[in-house]
Amino acid sequence: MENNITILDHPLIKHKISMLRDKNTGTNEFRKLVEEIAMLMGYEALRDLPLEDVEVETPIEKCMTPMLTGRKIAIVPILRAGLGMVEGILSLSPSAKVGHIGLYRDEVTHEPKEYYCKLPSPISERVIIVTDPMLATGGSAVDAINQIKKHGGTSIKFMCIIAAPEGLERLHREHPDVQIFVGQLDRELNDDAYICPGLGDAGDRIFGTK
Ligand code: PRP
Ligand code: URA
Repeated sequence: MENNITILDHPLIKHKISMLRDKNTGTNEFRKLVEEIAMLMGYEALRDLPLEDVEVETPIEKCMTPMLTGRKIAIVPILRAGLGMVEGILSLSPSAKVGHIGLYRDEVTHEPKEYYCKLPSPISERVIIVTDPMLATGGSAVDAINQIKKHGGTSIKFMCIIAAPEGLERLHREHPDVQIFVGQLDRELNDDAYICPGLGDAGDRIFGTK
């Protein structure tokens, strides 16, 4: 990890992202792939969770063996598309609490508009994983993390499947303390602030809307 940015290089993640990109991948398969990728990325993002030796009695003898300790986890998807990543992370950490931040991009200005925010309380005591498949201009991620910090969140990880260089640079500049995990770094944004080559509109593809 350099500068708190990790671009994942696992071949399973790369392969599944290529399947997501395909315009012929339908809603059902798209949802499953997003969930699987989130699980694989979550495995990496949670690599630094602290462990503590505890005593366990096996059928053979007592031993000291490591178990997770420290802060509990909160998953905070950015609505809508971030919702698609929640189950994948819950499969790794089933007792995590889940908050929600609702944002949509204005079609003309591309600025995020917030319409909902409900976070587990107290959020300050949790490791927070913010999920959104797409980091385009970075406006939505920056706003969501501003909200989380306003509510007291301090230990924050952001996970996206595809990032544009512009958004990654902005998110890291505005929140250098946040650990960012990216499945694939793409080439650029187009004039409509869509990621190229990207995968299109992640929310529409997950929920089958247009
Ligand atoms: C998409 C995506 C991100 C945002 C990324 O959401 O899921 O939240 O755009 O763009 P940005 O980095 O330029 O802010 P969208 O606004 O389309 O809302 P939706 O998920 O409800 O469709
Ligand atoms: N939001 C998306 O869903 N896709 C993009 O390419 C950019 C923003």
